[in-house]
Amino acid sequence: MSISPADAAKRAAAALALESVEGGMRLGIGTGSTAVWLVRLLAERISATGLDVVCVPTSEATAALARELGVPLATLDELGALDLAIDGADEFDPRLDLIKGGGGAHFREKIVAAAAARFIVIADEGKRVPRLGAFPLPVEVVRFGWPATEAAIRRALEGLDLGGAPIRLRERDGAPALTDEGNYILDLALGAIPDAPALARRLDSITGVVEHGLFIGMADCVALGRADGTAGML
Ligand code: 5RP
Repeated sequence: MSISPADAAKRAAAALALESVEGGMRLGIGTGSTAVWLVRLLAERISATGLDVVCVPTSEATAALARELGVPLATLDELGALDLAIDGADEFDPRLDLIKGGGGAHFREKIVAAAAARFIVIADEGKRVPRLGAFPLPVEVVRFGWPATEAAIRRALEGLDLGGAPIRLRERDGAPALTDEGNYILDLALGAIPDAPALARRLDSITGVVEHGLFIGMADCVALGRADGTAGML
């Protein structure tokens, strides 16, 4: 089956990350189109070799795909800790800090990555940036009083010289989009984030913010896929 260059890059990244998966592992599996390749290739390996792994999915969508393909699942409550998490990203910078949450799953994704001894990001060249921020930063907020939370975010941005950035309530089918946890998402069009760790700390301190998509110091490496179907580890 021939696939597009974009899919060839995603598949190559997922395949390279899968080389780190060994029998007996407790594995966190991410969300998004690159993670779909991960789940497909993992399912193929399980079926071909009988690889013995148990996986915690980071979203209902990933759980449904994994179930359909026969990938063994467990909850993080059951496992407590993970050996490895593998997930996509919307952007990564030279320090391997990330923006995630384009698929709205960053809250569970961050919990899963934090519970894992090792976190491998799977990405293609389009995700590599000199500075985070061109991709709008997703911030999951509780529905109760969300305009007040948005106002608090605006004040925080002003304090970091990011004032005036458009903030958009994410919608799906003409209504506010709900995360798997039943929350809303605000997308912050920042353009460029001069100090991502400082912004992460500010957002962490705002009541009503459930989780933001800045993953600071969490990724151990990036499996970078290329359109020609090759991949390398950063
Ligand atoms: C979902 C995510 C995804 O990992 C991110 O959006 C990348 O997705 P894709 O592989 O489709 O580009 O963070 O919340």
